[in-house]
Amino acid sequence: MPRGSRACQFVGFLLHFSLLAIVPRTALFAQTPPASSPPRSASVRQSVDALLQKMTLEEKIGQLTQFFAFEAPKDLDSKISKGEVGSLLFVTDPVERNRYQRLAVENSRMKIPLLFGFDVIHGFRTGFPVPIALAASWDPALITRVQSIAAKEAGAVGINWTFAPMVDIARDPRWGRIIEGAGEDPYLGSAVAAAQVRGFQGDYIGAPDHILACVKHFAGYGAAEGGRDYDASFISDSQLYNLYLPPFHAAVQAGVGSVMAAYMDLNDIPATGNRWLLRDVLRDRWHFQGFVVSDANSVKSLETHGYAKDLADAAQIAFNAGVNMEMGLTKTAYDENLRDSVRSGKVTAQQIEDAARPILETKIRLGLFEHPFVDESRAEPILLTPEHRTEARLAAERTAVLLRNERHFLPLPKGAYKNIAVVGPAADSPHDTVGPWIFQEDLKETVTLFAGLRNKLGTGTSVTFAPGVQIGRVFPSFFDPIFHEAKPSPWTPEQADQEMSAAINLVRASDLTVLVLGELQEMIGEGASRGSLDLPGRQQELLEKVVATGKPVVVLLMNGRPLNIKWAVQHVPAILDIWYPGTQGGAAVANLLFGDATPAGKLPFTWPRDVGQVPISYAHNRTQAPQDQGKRYWDEESTPLFPFGYGLSYSSFQYSNLRLSRSEIKRDDTLDVSVDLENKGDVPADEVAQLYIHQQYGSASRPVRELKGFERVALAPRETNTLHTTLGKDQLAYWNSAKQDWVYDVSTFDVWVGSNSDADLHSQFSVTN
Ligand code: NOJ
Repeated sequence: MPRGSRACQFVGFLLHFSLLAIVPRTALFAQTPPASSPPRSASVRQSVDALLQKMTLEEKIGQLTQFFAFEAPKDLDSKISKGEVGSLLFVTDPVERNRYQRLAVENSRMKIPLLFGFDVIHGFRTGFPVPIALAASWDPALITRVQSIAAKEAGAVGINWTFAPMVDIARDPRWGRIIEGAGEDPYLGSAVAAAQVRGFQGDYIGAPDHILACVKHFAGYGAAEGGRDYDASFISDSQLYNLYLPPFHAAVQAGVGSVMAAYMDLNDIPATGNRWLLRDVLRDRWHFQGFVVSDANSVKSLETHGYAKDLADAAQIAFNAGVNMEMGLTKTAYDENLRDSVRSGKVTAQQIEDAARPILETKIRLGLFEHPFVDESRAEPILLTPEHRTEARLAAERTAVLLRNERHFLPLPKGAYKNIAVVGPAADSPHDTVGPWIFQEDLKETVTLFAGLRNKLGTGTSVTFAPGVQIGRVFPSFFDPIFHEAKPSPWTPEQADQEMSAAINLVRASDLTVLVLGELQEMIGEGASRGSLDLPGRQQELLEKVVATGKPVVVLLMNGRPLNIKWAVQHVPAILDIWYPGTQGGAAVANLLFGDATPAGKLPFTWPRDVGQVPISYAHNRTQAPQDQGKRYWDEESTPLFPFGYGLSYSSFQYSNLRLSRSEIKRDDTLDVSVDLENKGDVPADEVAQLYIHQQYGSASRPVRELKGFERVALAPRETNTLHTTLGKDQLAYWNSAKQDWVYDVSTFDVWVGSNSDADLHSQFSVTN
């Protein structure tokens, strides 16, 4: 989508948002309790048949049409009243939402309720750690809990549908949207995808206090060339099946009710017009029963890409490819063209009916026909309840990754430091603490890192803040207009020098510095790709000057992608990656720093030393001269700075006694793998045990390691636990590009178990005919 048009859209967004603050009101509509069990499929089908029989062509096309409420056609109210709109997105005021709904269910002939969508990505009012951080918890149960709270809060204002989870695999951290996914690995990505679907949807579509999920962006968006957002992806068959598609498949298997088609070209065919993806894979192979929505204006983009001749052609292509609903700004190609396409015979009336069917089914399953309205008095008490805050703090504690901790620098001894300097551009910024892709959070309720430390340490310790540097983007973000707070005016060069000196003086006068480095929230996410992974602005200089004072320093990283921290790794004793930790971020970080919580997060991506190494993954193939794998570049080591799965603890763990139940299995068999894991330290701590395999030979070259199992385990000091998992066809088969099919080779397989992808506790087994 052209940048200019996007920017204009979000000016509209800003105006609208400031009008839509959630205000408690008296109840206008009594809320009958929602159904406690899913409607039966046969009765849903019959109800849809009955509806479709009575609907006009225009009304059916209306169900395929979705508008942004803030960029809708001028006659939106009248279109809803005529049954020409099926869904709205970005309506977050329950009163406004009920007003729209009344137009649909009281004015329109068929009284079909609207479906209200919104991007509920990592929380609604309560902000949880960003998705990449949730993946770093390696804790599917936590992820499910977090997303079910997000669903409950969003549902309380009348949102029925979230555009999440985003499950795009990303191996190039220049791509800003790496923050929205689960990182580089298909196995971890699949587990996180399924956990999110369960969190949002509950046990079934329409479960009380849950909403419909939408897995996105189908498929291959994370492979954008050069990490440039929206750019084309060129992905081999083998990578598609073995790497990019599995998290989508996992979401479908977990029962996700909708799928969003991606923007970009996949091997020259735009994803939104890609019949192979949307029909052959999604419907025919995976038996997906829900509906497909386009990304915002991505049907129109078919014309931009030069794939469709004009808007009418774009509508037909997307529709025939399998996009049920078009997400549009101001006008949709479907709304304007599908009627004519039917008249001219390019699309049949039956096809329109087939496309509308799963949308109507979903509305029935969600209980929208029985309970179209939201109880306006119910919203405020549900948002940000104490339990939600507690879960937000726990989530932030469980997602942090300890990257370095020389000589047990952390946890900090309580009471030992009387003057603490908190330095860094985002250290006292609520918005950056919560991170990108959240619009309804209340920044007044957000605990920054500075506030968290002050609250924890009370009056006995002086905690003082200095930003040190000001950082910003070269090109503005199209999200800028959405957010309420005014941007600070840029410092003059003299001011910048003064602020730098003030921060260094503060460091000198303190006995400990907590230095917060990274990217501001608008530097990562959609439209936030980078050509470098360096710390933006003068942060590297700030870091070096702080270290040069010789005072003790801890670095906290706020980031959604790996950054160039080579220098920090060589010169700073303790580095904790806290991501964008959410509403309770400051409280969680204070607990982590002083040992009231122990970090156990693990990296969901390989951390490169330098941007020149990307894309980089632990799961590369073994190729010519493997002994030189770490010396592929003559000017720098080609090994990562930190391996995939890496993260330290305040405790230490020992893995021992790796046992395979059999050394040889037939192809229909499975074998049991077990290992003993002991907490060797004096503090209770969690460890994420990881299992990797490697197929030694076969009908394709296979990665040197592939994650095939993990478990986050809580262990008391000196406690030992025996962990089990199974290996068999499900873990060992893979897509083979020569055979164009899934294969399961006879071979010998290595197995490693340990605390990251460099684990060295090893065994092996064979698969025979
Ligand atoms: C565009 C983004 O690509 C998508 O992820 C999002 O859900 C829609 N806009 C709606 O906001």
